[in-house]
Amino acid sequence: MTHPKPYMIPPIPVPFPWPKTASALFGKVVEESNRLESSLRRNSTASSMSLPEEPWQEEGTTSLIFRMVLKRPDPSEAEFDGKTLSNAHNIATSYLSELRVLRTVSVHPNIVRFAGIIEGVGIILEQIDGVELQSKFPTSDDLAYPSPVSKIQWATGTMDALIHLHSFHLSHSDLSPWNILITKDDQAKLIDFGRSTTLGERVFPASPPFSAPEIKYPDPSADGILADAYSYGVVLLCLDINRMLDPNDDVIQAASEPSSAWLFGDLIALYLQDHQSRSRLVSEHKSRFKSDNSG
Ligand SMILES: Nc1ncnc2c1ncn2[C@@H]1O[C@H](COP(=O)(O)OP(=O)(O)OP(=O)(O)O)[C@@H](O)[C@H]1O
Ligand SMILES: [Mg+2]
Repeated sequence: MTHPKPYMIPPIPVPFPWPKTASALFGKVVEESNRLESSLRRNSTASSMSLPEEPWQEEGTTSLIFRMVLKRPDPSEAEFDGKTLSNAHNIATSYLSELRVLRTVSVHPNIVRFAGIIEGVGIILEQIDGVELQSKFPTSDDLAYPSPVSKIQWATGTMDALIHLHSFHLSHSDLSPWNILITKDDQAKLIDFGRSTTLGERVFPASPPFSAPEIKYPDPSADGILADAYSYGVVLLCLDINRMLDPNDDVIQAASEPSSAWLFGDLIALYLQDHQSRSRLVSEHKSRFKSDNSG
């Protein structure tokens, strides 16, 4: 796969005030995203529309049926300390981030496909026929662990998706098993780019314990792409220990559990390092999968 030449993606503008109804809010998000995209188009050949390769069903001579997902904002207001607080700003930022990724990043087999938007409503994505990664972990003793072959396939697909995203100078910034869907043929698909950042943008803490430590204690200069490597390391750890980690679990302790069958031990150690000595994700690292038990 050829990667585009690196270019600077404009940071997300944050105009105020954001409308408070779902329809007007999404309308404004799209207006801003269009502005953003028009400047991207000068640098990028990325397509803004794509459909799943296979229709769900073929109908008649000219129509094809695709199954799609509608992702739409749901703004709300709450009273706090006599003030009315709205989440419109957070929602707008999240939708702008998501649209920036979907409209910038070229089609990739391990990234959910973007089909377009419905004005005043929301974003249309291909419907992935699959389950969230954490549902692959057994919840009782009599259920089987996923096979090493499957785990390596999921780890490979997720890594390929992240490296592709990173090649556009965009981070995911909320990587966790909840945002990795596994299809029936064992392909990993990355979803949910609402927290994605680019160079120079502040990264915010996402789901513990997947969020990198330097983000939990915010450093405004934290690197989202490097933080993704940490989150990916925790995902690999979950695959190796065959369970989800809870928000309060000690990741370093879990990573030091002795096991003779670890598939990803080398890379877990590499990615869970402090951000000063941590490595970014690179394809060559895949050769280190299974290194602990391949002799
Ligand atoms: N394209 C898709 N195909 C199938 N299921 C999807 C798709 N997109 C999202 N989902 C399901 O919906 C859930 C929520 O989607 P997503 O993470 O994009 O939304 P969100 O608003 O950011 O929600 P959350 O705060 O729960 O992360 C996913 O974890 C997944 O189970
Ligand atoms: Mg999500």
